[in-house]
Amino acid sequence: MRTTNVFFTTALIPFALIVACLLAGCATSKVQKPDGLSGPSPAVRSDASIVQALEPVTGAGRVLVVYFSQGNATRAVAEDLAALTGADLEAIVELKNRAGFFGFMGAGMDATMGTATPIAGPFYNPARYDVVFVCTPVWAWHLCPPVRSWLRMYSGKFVKAAFVTVSGDTEPDKIVAAMIEESGVEPFASDGFSERDLYPENRDSYVARLAALVEPLR
Ligand SMILES: Cc1cc2nc3c(=O)[nH]c(=O)nc-3n(C[C@H](O)[C@H](O)[C@H](O)COP(=O)(O)O)c2cc1C
Repeated sequence: MRTTNVFFTTALIPFALIVACLLAGCATSKVQKPDGLSGPSPAVRSDASIVQALEPVTGAGRVLVVYFSQGNATRAVAEDLAALTGADLEAIVELKNRAGFFGFMGAGMDATMGTATPIAGPFYNPARYDVVFVCTPVWAWHLCPPVRSWLRMYSGKFVKAAFVTVSGDTEPDKIVAAMIEESGVEPFASDGFSERDLYPENRDSYVARLAALVEPLR
């Protein structure tokens, strides 16, 4: 009982800090900032097609790009990777209501606790692909629960993968480690983007990092 209490206290402290930051932000400003702690990302993205900036990959076999996105950021990265590699694109659908303040709180709680939440049955089977990209937002410094569910569902079913995180500002290492643990796959590449990387003024470095992600497939 005591061990359980200590665990819960330790696990929930980081998320309680997020909520405190959020409340402090609401009290002082009504302007939504891309601070990574205020919910899904605002839509900010260059209009230019990625294949105008980078030569598409050919000869990599069948490629699948899987992602979850509440806002637009992870979807934007996933779509760019799919356009570059000629991949099929699967959006993971979480079967849990994340609306409003309590939805946000529950999302952070589920992520912090390492919960694998229910998802809709995926359309594509990663076992039929030569390469799989898995793209996840960061929630409360942890792997996003519906992506955890997808990785767990297909653990051991695919072998060649790259893992991508998208966040406000969080380093990818811990989340990528969780993705490796859930899937049993050591990725051939990984990277962690922040929403700012999608801004038009950061286009060059964004394109260079996408190039590095797909380079092993050329
Ligand atoms: C519940 C929740 C928790 C979040 N926690 C973090 C966090 O710990 N660190 C971070 O940098 N961003 C955090 N974010 C911000 C998202 O990672 C960021 O907005 C990301 O770009 C969202 O991707 P999306 O637009 O594809 O949903 C959080 C967002 C939500 C909704």
